[in-house]
Amino acid sequence: AKRPAGIPDAKPGAIAKVGIVGAGLMASQLAQLFIERLEVPVVMKDISPEALEKGCGQVVEGFRRLGEKGKLTEGKARHLAGLVSGTLDFRDFSDCDFVIEAVFEEMAVKKQVLGELEPLLRPDAVIATNTSSLSVTEMASVLRVPGRMLGFHFFNPVAVLPLVEVIRTAQTSGEALATAFDLARKLRKTGVLVKDAPAFLVNRILVKMLVDCLALVDEGASFQEVDDALLALGLPMAPFDLLAMVGMPVALHVMETLNHALGPDRFPLNANFSRIVEAKKTFVYLPGVEPKRVDPDLERLWA
Ligand code: 3HC
Repeated sequence: AKRPAGIPDAKPGAIAKVGIVGAGLMASQLAQLFIERLEVPVVMKDISPEALEKGCGQVVEGFRRLGEKGKLTEGKARHLAGLVSGTLDFRDFSDCDFVIEAVFEEMAVKKQVLGELEPLLRPDAVIATNTSSLSVTEMASVLRVPGRMLGFHFFNPVAVLPLVEVIRTAQTSGEALATAFDLARKLRKTGVLVKDAPAFLVNRILVKMLVDCLALVDEGASFQEVDDALLALGLPMAPFDLLAMVGMPVALHVMETLNHALGPDRFPLNANFSRIVEAKKTFVYLPGVEPKRVDPDLERLWA
């Protein structure tokens, strides 16, 4: 296979066990993908037993559904489901070759977790982050070996979307990059090399579109009109459905990062949207209601 431009000619490391920091929505989707495509044990680490139970449960349920749909034999589905485990202790990461963190999008939390984790890892283990917009360079600054760190950013739903952004910092080693691209290939994803800039490549564009959709609602369009128009244009998903799927707090977080980094002219914040996230609304349409109906609470909160 042709090496993507800019990737040094280094030997990728073998991956016989993967560690995932976190057990939330992204973490369990990642666990399922890694297990399905690599057939190696995957251990998820969280701080609460309840979160671990939920995260591992989602992986097991994911394989059960694949078995039920006939996409895997029942035996294979059971075997793969058996490869996930949960832990509260990073010492269970000591034999991992590749670790990816997918915890809450807060720099301080990420740094703390990485600092705690690194001394317990093998010296050649690669550390990745699935952050959607935070600086990978800043995260790597807490490591003793910052060259082992890179971004490995997946898109929701992980099982379906082929893209993974591979984010290199000025210090990322050739070996770590080679391992990441080899891993992307084994996961049957398209790895795209991007530099460590705010929100990387795709979220700059995707989130910009979402900000503009919000602005249109401010200007008097209805949520439904914006969604219908862009769906009819050919987008795979209506923008406000996409916003709900990404998670409004995550989307707001990316908007704030971009607003801060690139300025309000390029990335204005939307006051209505911020207020809605603060009120803990997480969808635009009433869930499960067909035909779609905008949640009256959300309309009320919109000035
Ligand atoms: N998990 C697993 N599989 C899923 C899934 C999910 N959540 N949603 C859909 N699928 C599978 C279905 O099982 C189906 O597989 P099959 O053909 O083998 O049966 C296939 O995907 C197609 O599903 P559907 O026919 O039900 O639905 P669509 O054709 O409408 O596709 C979609 C659904 C793939 C979600 C499509 O609407 C889409 O691509 N939407 C845009 C998603 C997007 O832009 N995501 C990026 C978000 S940004 C992000 O994640 C970055 C972060 O940093 C913020």
